[in-house]
Amino acid sequence: MKINVITCADHVSPESVKGNTAVVVDTLRATSVIITAISHGAKSVVPMTSVEEALETKKKLENVVLGGERKARLIDGFDLSNSPKEYTASAVAEKNVVLTTTNGTKAIARSSSAARIFIGALRNARAVAEAAVAEERDAVIVNAGTGGEFSMDDFITAGAIIAHMLELKPAELTDVAKTALIIYETHRDLRSYIQEAHHYGVLEELGLSEDLDFCLQESVEDIVPEYKNGIIKQHF
Ligand code: MLT
Repeated sequence: MKINVITCADHVSPESVKGNTAVVVDTLRATSVIITAISHGAKSVVPMTSVEEALETKKKLENVVLGGERKARLIDGFDLSNSPKEYTASAVAEKNVVLTTTNGTKAIARSSSAARIFIGALRNARAVAEAAVAEERDAVIVNAGTGGEFSMDDFITAGAIIAHMLELKPAELTDVAKTALIIYETHRDLRSYIQEAHHYGVLEELGLSEDLDFCLQESVEDIVPEYKNGIIKQHF
């Protein structure tokens, strides 16, 4: 098994993920939100890359909750922002969550030619590592990044997932995957590294420190959502 890392959504091409198990990561905050929504009983999460698409999709589905962000804030007319703490069981159980975010939902859409697509974050790092190893094929950790740029929060999350994969099975790592692993292994106080990330500062400025605390918890969820045929459900 070979493991690679792609450092932002804009760098994903069909060839770069084809035949691989892709694990899409947007720790602050899109994939943390998706894991929380599925964990709290959402029927599905439907990732959209534009607000217009999300509003169109709402017309075609039942029991819809509109969620997401632009500039890290609630979108006009939407029910929920991209704060994981809003995705409670009372808000999303049995609902179809139509979600659009700036980077995370784009990274998911761009990974669609992979053999299988799992949703990863720090919160389910060990569980998603187990699912990726069980697939017995090459894997690629797709970082959403921020605005087409590398993001430190997603990169150290890739390192965490790779560390858990190596606990289960030896693998060949590309240089960027090795670097993510080294960053993770040399920053066990994750916040000491992630607090330097641009987007961490943006969320802190907006007073969203509870979201930061929530998204930085490691391997506290056994949920492994899977993206298939345009929707995300729990992977079994
Ligand atoms: C994104 O997809 O860009 C992020 O999840 C944005 C955020 O939650 O602030």
